[in-house]
Order: sequence, then C-alpha cells, then structure tokens
Amino acid sequence: MSKKADPPKSTKQATSKTPDEKKKPKEAEDWIAEIIPKKKKPSVQKPSDDDLSDVAVNKIPGIGPAVSEKLMSAGYLTLAAVAHASPYELVEHCEIGEQTAKRLITAARSQIGVGFKSAKSLLESRQKLQMIPTGSKALDTLLKGGIETSSLTEISGEFRTGKTQICFQLCVMTAMEKKNGGLESGVIFIDTEGTFRPERIVQICSRFGADPDDILSRIHVGRAYNSDHQMVLVLESPILIKEKNVKLMIIDSLTSHFRAEFTGRGALLERQQKLNKYLHQLLRLGEVYDIATVATNQVLSKPDVLYGETIFPIGGNIVAHSCTTRIFLRKGKGDKRIARVIDSPHIPEIETIFSITEEGIVDIEDSS
Ligand code: GTP
Ligand code: MG
Repeated sequence: MSKKADPPKSTKQATSKTPDEKKKPKEAEDWIAEIIPKKKKPSVQKPSDDDLSDVAVNKIPGIGPAVSEKLMSAGYLTLAAVAHASPYELVEHCEIGEQTAKRLITAARSQIGVGFKSAKSLLESRQKLQMIPTGSKALDTLLKGGIETSSLTEISGEFRTGKTQICFQLCVMTAMEKKNGGLESGVIFIDTEGTFRPERIVQICSRFGADPDDILSRIHVGRAYNSDHQMVLVLESPILIKEKNVKLMIIDSLTSHFRAEFTGRGALLERQQKLNKYLHQLLRLGEVYDIATVATNQVLSKPDVLYGETIFPIGGNIVAHSCTTRIFLRKGKGDKRIARVIDSPHIPEIETIFSITEEGIVDIEDSS
C-alpha cells in the first residue's frame, strides 16, 4: 500500500475548518495543488513495465509515412531517439521543418515520459544493465562486473599499454554465445588508426572454444579516415545497431584524427567544440540504444608539471566530463599491465594488474 503524505499538525490559527475537513487527512496531491495551484503538477513518472522507448518511430501519434521514412533513414529509429533529440538536429539531419521537429519531439516525449523517475526505479533499471566481461577476473572486479552498457568508457594510456588489445577482447566477449559467458550480440568497431586485426580475434576465440566465423560475423568494422568520417559512421550506426542487435561500440581511437587535423593553439577551440559534439553523439547513442561505448584515448606528456601526474589523456576537460568511467593503463614488467580507474560515479580510484597474452587479456596467474 502506498504511504500518504502526513498533513502538517493543525495549529490554533487554523480553526475555520468544517468538521468534515478536520476528519479527513489531506492527500499528497491536495498539498501539491495548494502549493502550486495554478502551475502544472511536476511529472513524477511511476515505474512502469511498459517501457515504450524502443518502440519504432512510425508509432509517434500523427506521424505520416514520408516524415517517418525521413527520420528512419537519418538513423532516428525509436521513440527514445526522437525524444532525446533537439529540434535543430532533426531539422539538420532529417530535412523536416522546425515546427514538425518540435511537434514530433513533444509527441515522442509524452509517449515515453521524460519527467522525473524515482531513485528506486533507477536502481531497478541499473540492475538490468548488462556487463561485458574483460577476460580478466581482476579487471572485472575492479570495474564491478565489467564494461557497463548505456555508458561511455574511456581507456587511455601510452602506446603499447593494451588499449586496442582490450578492445579486441571486448569484441569477443560481446559476440560470444551466452553459454560461454558472452552477450551473443553485435559489435561496431570504428577503427581510426587501421589497427583492427581479425587474426587477433581468432586467437582470442580459441581460449573459449568459440567459433571464430560466428564471432567475426558479429563484428562490424568501419575504417574512419578523418574526424568527419568518424562522426558520420556514428550517425549512420543506429540502423546497424538495431539490425544486428549491437551491444558494444568501440572507437579506437577517439582523438587521433582530431589531434592530427587541428594543430596549433589557434585550432584548439574548434577541435574541442567538434570533439564535444562527437562525445555527446556517443553518449546519447549509448543511452538511447542501451549499448556500451568504449573509446580509447592517447595521452599527452606535460614534463613541466612540478609534482603529481605528468601524463594526461588527450581532450582535457571536455573528454573528462563526458566519459562515465575512465580507465588509465600503464606498462608493467613484460606482458603485465596496470589498469587504474581514474574517474567513475560508482568505482573508487583503485588499480589492478592483468596480462596481455596470445589468448587476449588474462589474469596474471593465468599468463604463462
Ligand atoms: P597504441 O594504439 O599504439 O597507442 O597502443 P595500444 O595501447 O593500443 O597497444 P595495443 O593494445 O596494441 O598493445 C600492444 C601490446 O600488446 C604490445 O606490447 C604487444 O606485444 C602486445 N600483444 C599484441 N599481440 C600479442 C600477442 O599475440 N601475444 C602477446 N603476448 N602480446 C601481444
Ligand atoms: Mg591501439
């Protein structure tokens, strides 16, 4: 039974009430109506089993086939995708008028409800999030289960620290059958450096006895030749995400093109603005389609720092604020690598060691 809000205790001044009013305690709704009588009540969304976020965009009330076609071919496939969009971007990407864009967004938002949610229902939703294991139990423990869906994880570190190797491992874990501990789902791999190696995927499969053909056919690789292309690949990905049940999107690496194309101090502002836009695309995609987004990042050395860290992930505050969880890698002895969580809303700043072997990312005890 739901608890009713307790009315405030009556005071001596409040004596002009009828006997009926005295008897009946006020409902919470009456109190809200009294406090804000003329304004709309705040929308408090009840947890519902009937989540319409994933419903196809052509179910927006009043939408015609032509407009729904335009939205779908621009990658806005679900009610959530439209509800989370801004009118400006729908106008830009879907070639529709501003008024139509506003009307569609309002309709989609009212369908899925974008008001407040109780913390209890948020906890329930978080408990349903899927985790992608990393291949190393120590790393999974550090990350409280693995890489989370619906969030953006950054993996940064110097060259040869294992960023790309972790990405290969995550590809296999996501594509692998559920009975082997995988998610049996698709992967999108945006390769900006030309370092995707299907042979490594095949080697990692052998550790789990997974069929390499199955795994490779679930991984969809897009080679991005510059930062614009990198952004276009993300914009075009929703159709693939839906068709191939994608649960992981990798960008390896996030910043290399941006860094090469925008050189010098004069270009820094423009680079950061573009990077910011890109990061927001990634964040939204992750949330709307409930996928894990993993972006690798290179580092910058600042030798003039007097004390503390001298190596920093590229992208400054913009990358720092956009990523949900940030993992920093450094080299250990031989094939050992140290992973440290440097920022997360739910994981403390701790570190662990893992190894890179022919069979992928493993615990140090398991590396021979
Ligand atoms: P950059 O992209 O250059 O910034 O580096 P990265 O951090 O992405 O490096 P990557 O993930 O490619 O890791 C390279 C390391 O993995 C090197 O030290 C390789 O020796 C190691 N590595 C790659 N393949 C194998 C393998 O088959 N066996 C073993 N034992 N190590 C491997
Ligand atoms: Mg790499």
